[in-house]
Amino acid sequence: MLHRPFVQPLRVSLFLARIALPFVCISLSTSVASAGWASLGEMPKPKAQGNGLLFSNDQGTLWIGAENKNVLRVRFISKGTLGRDHSYALTADRPKSVMPEIQVGQDQSSLKVSGLSATITHNPLRITFKDVAGNVIDEDDAERGIAFAGTTTRVWKTLPDDAHVYGLGEKGGRLDKRGRQLGGTTYAMWNSDTFAYDSDTDPIYVSVPFYMVMRKSRAHGVFLDNTFRSLFDVGHESQRLLSFGAENGELNYYVIAGPHPKDVVARYTELTGRISLPPRWALGFHQSRWGYWPESRLRLVANSFREKKIPADVLWLDIDYQDGFKPFTWDKARFADPPRMLRELSAQGFRVITIVDPHPPVQKGYSIYDQGEAGGHFVRNADGTLFTGAVWPMRAMPPRRSVYPDFTNAKTRAWWAGLYKPFLDIGVAGIWNDMNEPAVGDQANGTMPFDVRHDNDGQPSDHREVHNVYGQQMSRATYEGIRAAKPNLRPFVLTRATFAGGQKWSAVWTGDNQSDWAHLRGGIPMLLGMGLSGYSFAGNDVGGFVDSPTPTLFTRWAQAAVFFPFMRAHTTRRSLDQEPWSYGVVNEVENRKVIELRYRLLPTIYNEMQKASETGVPAMRPLFLEFPDDPTSWDRDDQFMWGPDMLVAPVLKEVALEREVYLPAGNWYDFATGAMIPAAQPVEAKAGDETALAQVVGQTVTVPVTISTLPLYVREGGFVFSQPVVQHTGQMAGLPLQVMIFPSQKESTRTFYEDDGETMAYSKGAYCKRTFRSVQSGDSLKVAVSGCTGSYKPAARDLVIRLPVNQNARAFISGNQTKTTRTTPGYLDVVVPDKFNAIELRVDQASH
Ligand code: GLC
Repeated sequence: MLHRPFVQPLRVSLFLARIALPFVCISLSTSVASAGWASLGEMPKPKAQGNGLLFSNDQGTLWIGAENKNVLRVRFISKGTLGRDHSYALTADRPKSVMPEIQVGQDQSSLKVSGLSATITHNPLRITFKDVAGNVIDEDDAERGIAFAGTTTRVWKTLPDDAHVYGLGEKGGRLDKRGRQLGGTTYAMWNSDTFAYDSDTDPIYVSVPFYMVMRKSRAHGVFLDNTFRSLFDVGHESQRLLSFGAENGELNYYVIAGPHPKDVVARYTELTGRISLPPRWALGFHQSRWGYWPESRLRLVANSFREKKIPADVLWLDIDYQDGFKPFTWDKARFADPPRMLRELSAQGFRVITIVDPHPPVQKGYSIYDQGEAGGHFVRNADGTLFTGAVWPMRAMPPRRSVYPDFTNAKTRAWWAGLYKPFLDIGVAGIWNDMNEPAVGDQANGTMPFDVRHDNDGQPSDHREVHNVYGQQMSRATYEGIRAAKPNLRPFVLTRATFAGGQKWSAVWTGDNQSDWAHLRGGIPMLLGMGLSGYSFAGNDVGGFVDSPTPTLFTRWAQAAVFFPFMRAHTTRRSLDQEPWSYGVVNEVENRKVIELRYRLLPTIYNEMQKASETGVPAMRPLFLEFPDDPTSWDRDDQFMWGPDMLVAPVLKEVALEREVYLPAGNWYDFATGAMIPAAQPVEAKAGDETALAQVVGQTVTVPVTISTLPLYVREGGFVFSQPVVQHTGQMAGLPLQVMIFPSQKESTRTFYEDDGETMAYSKGAYCKRTFRSVQSGDSLKVAVSGCTGSYKPAARDLVIRLPVNQNARAFISGNQTKTTRTTPGYLDVVVPDKFNAIELRVDQASH
């Protein structure tokens, strides 16, 4: 019904993806015995080549060398020599490569950079990686090691019993990938349009062939830079093995040193790039649905937000705004005067994002088709004819087939990039790229035939090689188009399909999820895994896309999504209304409160997103990233951290009277009440038990919940930067900055970042970074705030230091007692006019 008239093919392709794929994958089986794998045998002594060593024999060629001081790289190709060294994932501004220390012996050779080393035995050729302390972090399985079968290459590595494996990008299931399989096979990398996927569907839309292993609190990463279909088996084929490989191309992988899991994410993103700093409005609330047309309906939604005082920044237009589903057009019967509409919405504080799919219809006289055809921009079949497929334009009158730009051709990217300008010039704020797996409705495999030709950045190839980067290169073209058209503004691009490294160009949402509790629950590990894999700007359809949520599900989903980097409600065509007010009065009140919380916390949210753009460490992060020494955190994925300080434990059930929350070691504060939850008592070492050192452990608390409750905790020493509620981000200038400080006996320091929120001026130093420091000693809390570094001056405002302390506490600024007020139960405010200079504050809690 939804996909008229090519519903059959789409369903068939989904059927094929779910049912037939396991069998396809069996032909790429990971089993050595059945697939005729040949493992590497003896290789003669290597030659030095570049900053590494080159081995070769009649089985193939292997190079191992240094990528940088913390990353070593392996390249292997069977039966031949290594080809072009090209990557769609690596960022051009990655650190310069270094020369490793090299030793070549008769039986083994070694390479060493400051962060890790590799030893290579020559007979048989096997590689072992060690960290700086000499611990083995990654080693080839002695029996299998690197192997090949035809063009397929694979490496088997040992997987110690105590290793946990995370990452692999957009994947269903649990946070720890170990021992699990999805979709009846291993984890596969093959971008797929998976309408109404479930927790077992694999692969889905995005491919990030990167994982992190953590063992005894020490982590390292592995990134397979190969765009062909690849498969990862994480202790499933055999509990003691992890293996990965691709069906063609080089086995080209990087081993990334830790030991802290944050180091691994930082170094992986140093290699593949980090999210660009989002405009602040993109961190507000987004409202979308498939079906906001005509203009009057969109305007009603806009007016309802403002009348009901539910904050929102962005409204989205799905495919029906276009004329006959033609990219870069407007249906003038539905949207008569887009520039006027955009102006008027802008006056209400709304931005509008429009969808642009990669499949213009075949239609002479439609300028995009004509230009693309004349410029040779569309992909062609092996026989040289234009490739056409069935996508949305098949639903136009008359129905039309579509062509697909070749985004792996630099000229085509430049052409497509240039098409956005007219949209941006009339005020469209950002672009949504969808269906770019690419989805092709009438093909049995759901995408292009494998022999369709692509430029592949100057080395022509077929679809097998570029399929996984088609969406990534589309979002790159979009990003570059927006940069060129609006050089002073930060682009916002959302994509459905992408590949490792695409985080530089776009945010991601997790496609066509479903309105059920399993998707709310499963969305958390999925987004956490994406954050660990470079995609720290991601979200899912709040409320679920397919079907309609119960009122409670929508509210609970919105509560969790306050702490998803990207927060957008979206739903399918003809589902029930899915706006925050669509669920009756009680839920409307709750949904307002939830979205207000997002806006109150925007300073903290923006601060952490800025850090993610600078360091790669995601703002929405698994517990183990903050508490790697705490075994309970290693597989805990029904709760998560926002930044270093906030612990979020959303309610994930329709009927819930209480929620169990795990609080790692240390004192915590209940955000809602300011009440302190003292640390659990350390476990005493048992006499004579050498391994059981006195441990500091966490605790599980069970909290009663109502529909209003979002269990939220802040660790001692934490800082939360907040502001009064606004209806949209355009209203923030001049509002007080509320700095919530959660005292600790240990000194703690956090930086806080601000800028104009919208332009590129920050890249030239127009920001204000301040350091906040606090320490509690006895009953006295000391707070020091630095002045700004950077040239940006926020508008004049007050600084409100908000503390979870007794109302009798006395505050002193530079030694002089100052007034305190209580505006929030459980907290005390000290208000200081903010001159953006250093401030020193002391709060004495003794006398009461
Ligand atoms: C795809 C997208 C969905 C969108 C729809 C129509 O299913 O995933 O978000 O609403 O297409 O464009």
